[in-house]
Amino acid sequence: MKKFKEISPSEINKNTFDLIGKDWMLVTARKGGGCNTMTASWGGLGIMWNKPVAFTFIRPQRYTFGLIENEDYFTLSFYGEEYRNALKFCGTKSGRQYDKVKECGFTPVYDETSVYFEEAELVLVCKKLYGQGLNEESILNNETVLPNYNGDDYHKMYVSEIVKVLKKQ
Ligand SMILES: Cc1cc2nc3c(=O)[nH]c(=O)nc-3n(C[C@H](O)[C@H](O)[C@H](O)COP(=O)(O)O)c2cc1C
Repeated sequence: MKKFKEISPSEINKNTFDLIGKDWMLVTARKGGGCNTMTASWGGLGIMWNKPVAFTFIRPQRYTFGLIENEDYFTLSFYGEEYRNALKFCGTKSGRQYDKVKECGFTPVYDETSVYFEEAELVLVCKKLYGQGLNEESILNNETVLPNYNGDDYHKMYVSEIVKVLKKQ
């Protein structure tokens, strides 16, 4: 297995729209001595409060939501096309019913703060800075936004500092 090398956020050379919107990512958080992961394809990378940040949007009914709420850190990780089926699985099955890490054959790597998978091509270690639930009152364009919600499933937005970027060599 190839090793990871730490790079700076500005050295991420893949287009963000492709990385998140097309490749998708795994959002992974610790769960006691283990972890759970889910697929996400909405979000962004950028700058806030003069720091490199990730914007992540998690619906409250996700099992991962409770885990992220309990932890200071989580990871976003990106994979080669050969893991597309694994990401589909992690995006349609819940950690409440499945040990998704085991089912997908992912190899967890636990560092001081968080957990990610050895199979990833790129890992962002994220430290939560800010969290806010989206709500109906704040919607400025009903036509685009409202069809995505049932009324009780508004995402929570997390703005997290990207404290470490690991790239597969
Ligand atoms: C391509 C794709 C993208 C997704 N993006 C998100 C997302 O950005 N936010 C979110 O809350 N759920 C998203 N999901 C849904 C979760 O991955 C899915 O509900 C998952 O089963 C939750 O797992 P958990 O219950 O173990 O947390 C996405 C699913 C897929 C297939």
